Amino acid sequence: MAVQSLFPTLVYAAPLGRSAAALNRALLRECLQLRHDDRAGRSWSARNYPGGYTSYSSQCRMQQVSPTFAALARRLDGHVRRFARALDFDLRGRRLAMTDCWVNIMRPRLVHSLHLHPLATISGTYYVSTPPGCAALKFEDPRLDRYMAAPPRKAGARRSNRAWVSLPARAGRVVLFESWLRHEVPPNAGRAERVSISFNYSWF
Ligand code: NI
Repeated sequence: MAVQSLFPTLVYAAPLGRSAAALNRALLRECLQLRHDDRAGRSWSARNYPGGYTSYSSQCRMQQVSPTFAALARRLDGHVRRFARALDFDLRGRRLAMTDCWVNIMRPRLVHSLHLHPLATISGTYYVSTPPGCAALKFEDPRLDRYMAAPPRKAGARRSNRAWVSLPARAGRVVLFESWLRHEVPPNAGRAERVSISFNYSWF
């Protein structure tokens, strides 16, 4: 093959696993209950996540305080191990472990602007409730700032050659990416709330 692909950016997407429907229902109940109970989180969200609720600054280690979230973490561990294998990480003598896990509830039209997850190795999201038309997760080519004089890509360019790629948000599914990969959630066009659980894994 004359053309080779070097330095790929890997992203992982898969269903959480078998018999996950009951766990998903319990997670949805807890996410909504958390918003109800978490006054500090609601007030932080009013300033930093207007129109939505996130427990990012108030309850960001849900896997340590809720058995339901701990059950989710155990299932996510297997997905993260598979992703780490695909990335050829050498983890001898170390372990990728969940460090943070928080809830996001996006009302219609809410945006979560472009960001990355510092101080983490692998990050991801598990989708709890994704009403029809709700926003996808949009990734940006990490080399975008080096494109300089590169011509624009064709409208029908292969997915692997595009500067932005969106993965649809689907309830019951997990998406994983390396934490340095910038991403955003464009305006949520769904008519109902989009509920997701985000998390970080670290090896240090
Ligand atoms: Ni994020």
